[in-house]
Amino acid sequence: TQIRHIVQNMPKAELHIHIEGSLEPELIFALAQRNGVQLAYPSVDALRAAYAFQDLQSFLDIYYAGASVLLKEQDFYDMTAAYLERAKADHVRHTEIFFDPQTHTSRGVPIGDVINGIHRACADSEVSATLILCFLRHLSEDDALATLEAALPYRDKFIGVGLDSSEVGHPPEKFTRVFARARELGLHLVAHAGEEGPPEYIWSALDVLHVERIDHGVRCLEDAALTRRLAAEKMALTVCPLSNIKLRVFDTMQEHNLLTLLDAGLVVTINSDDPAYFGGYLNENFLAAFDSLPLGLQHAHELARNGFAASFLPAEQKQKFL
Ligand code: ADE
Ligand code: ZN
Repeated sequence: TQIRHIVQNMPKAELHIHIEGSLEPELIFALAQRNGVQLAYPSVDALRAAYAFQDLQSFLDIYYAGASVLLKEQDFYDMTAAYLERAKADHVRHTEIFFDPQTHTSRGVPIGDVINGIHRACADSEVSATLILCFLRHLSEDDALATLEAALPYRDKFIGVGLDSSEVGHPPEKFTRVFARARELGLHLVAHAGEEGPPEYIWSALDVLHVERIDHGVRCLEDAALTRRLAAEKMALTVCPLSNIKLRVFDTMQEHNLLTLLDAGLVVTINSDDPAYFGGYLNENFLAAFDSLPLGLQHAHELARNGFAASFLPAEQKQKFL
């Protein structure tokens, strides 16, 4: 249909993509072979068959196992280059890519190999791409602080920090000091909050960590005062429709609250989260939402525009997309 065609072809920004979540099963097997890593699954099909998740943690277990094939700088380059090709095909003009250094440094991979490999692929791409270093919230704040210090020789290669992994039981305030340090360094700040965790985690991401966007944030609607605040401050939510269905945040796409969020005046963006695991890249996420919810052309333009508006592009570059 006409609207599907427009949604697919319009220029878009992507603000919530974990690069390790773009690792397709075929590339996992190719890298395992190249690096002599033993996988728990005998074949690509067997691995893909394991992609049936009950919740966030059951996904994370498989996601971290998949990332274990990444050892060399070139592996990080190849993974990132493959994502950027898919992004370009979906008319993504700008992307702000999350990466999880602790997933790799804990296996002995030097942080410089992680950052340099991902960054070099970004530099080689036609798509505008910047990097956001994420701390794993199931690990300690001291581990996050050490990771930030270890990354400082590469300070010019990332624009911000984020917070991801197991949400419930690991509230934002656990990371108060490391976010304060990142803020001093002039880094942009984001955090996953209100995906599986309660609205209180969104409040503390705002008031304790001072984040500039909320990743997911879909549970904000449980708290009317919070919803009003997010709207008043034009605080963007990076919503990930297919992820929310695969991780059972909502039972069906028809029940997704994306349109309700828009109607509440929130700056909603659409993103892919972990496209290799959740059934599609950015266009698939747009189409899944548009196929299941009563969204129209105005919504399409608003969602695309929000992606650029909520980006960390410098004002004059941002202006060209708005
Ligand atoms: N890491 C990768 N994807 C994630 C998600 N959706 N939530 C938390 N941590 C993640
Ligand atoms: Zn995420």
